[in-house]
Amino acid sequence: SWTADAFVDTTVASLKEKLGDDHVIMALSGGVDSTVAAVLLHQAIGKNLHCIFVDHGLLRKNEYEQVLESYQHMGLNIKGVNAKDRFYQKLAGVSEPERKRKIIGAAFIDEFDEAAHAVQAELPEGVAVKWLGQGTIYPDVIESISVKGPSATIKSHHNVGGLPDFMKLKVVEPLNTLFKDEVRRVGKALGVAPSILGRHPFPGPGLAIRILGEITAEKVRILQEADDIYIRNLRESGWYDKVWQAGTIFLPVQSVGVMGDERTYEHVVALRAVGSLDGMTADWTHLPYELLAKISNEIINHVKGINRVVYDISSKPPATIEWE
Ligand code: XMP
Repeated sequence: SWTADAFVDTTVASLKEKLGDDHVIMALSGGVDSTVAAVLLHQAIGKNLHCIFVDHGLLRKNEYEQVLESYQHMGLNIKGVNAKDRFYQKLAGVSEPERKRKIIGAAFIDEFDEAAHAVQAELPEGVAVKWLGQGTIYPDVIESISVKGPSATIKSHHNVGGLPDFMKLKVVEPLNTLFKDEVRRVGKALGVAPSILGRHPFPGPGLAIRILGEITAEKVRILQEADDIYIRNLRESGWYDKVWQAGTIFLPVQSVGVMGDERTYEHVVALRAVGSLDGMTADWTHLPYELLAKISNEIINHVKGINRVVYDISSKPPATIEWE
């Protein structure tokens, strides 16, 4: 029967044979799949795996720094790219969700492309990067085949493909036969930190699709603060590991409030937490009222610019997990 240890042994051995002395380049996202794929490749070829981690400025609070540090800690050959301002510039004035996704996808490829050139430029004469590493898992393979149908236009999710074409790279996907729970078991066998393995799914475009309407650096900052309070409280109360996914959404409305003798007119955030098996259907999570009350108070008292917090009690379908 299948075991994670046996999978690691056979996969590392076959990667060694397949890749030899070749160089591989790979984009990491901080998510479970790309991290586990990178650690496997790293065991097989060491420093010949070149990892790139792009900060699009739309991750959770402090996440870029923390994840970069844990990658360095794991001994990965990783290069961080601070591309925040370029992403914000390209997104300025854009409010349509699919356009946001397309802009972010294209900007990401530009950044990766440039970082890949830089990696190539540092290699000795005659040595070329030949492979693109990817954290594709089995359900992604199935989805990228099946999304050719009419549902393909619902959301342009996926990160399968996305090859920078200048480099004619071959693709290596060590996890493409595994389901998510198997990836987690392989990650555990490889010693990947529980903080990475237990992480909720997080959309590639990140907070861009949790800020309804136009994105500004200020809205990102406010949302990161509120979300940080939410996620910390979920962790401290033991709820983080009981929900499939949770996040905070910045709504495109302001509402009236009162502070002392003054009326305020400030922003509203929505909290979302759902239970799910695969993201295809989802039920809203019945978080305890006391916990919601604590989170709401903390957000309103500590995050300047927010005077109202609401909780999303919609399930999928017909609602979706994200609001955009
Ligand atoms: P929805 O909102 O469609 O989300 O119910 C289902 C799952 O997909 C994630 N999601 C995305 N992931 N790029 C991604 O990589 C995207 O554009 C995107 N949109 C939604 C969502 O977070 C949930 O886990």
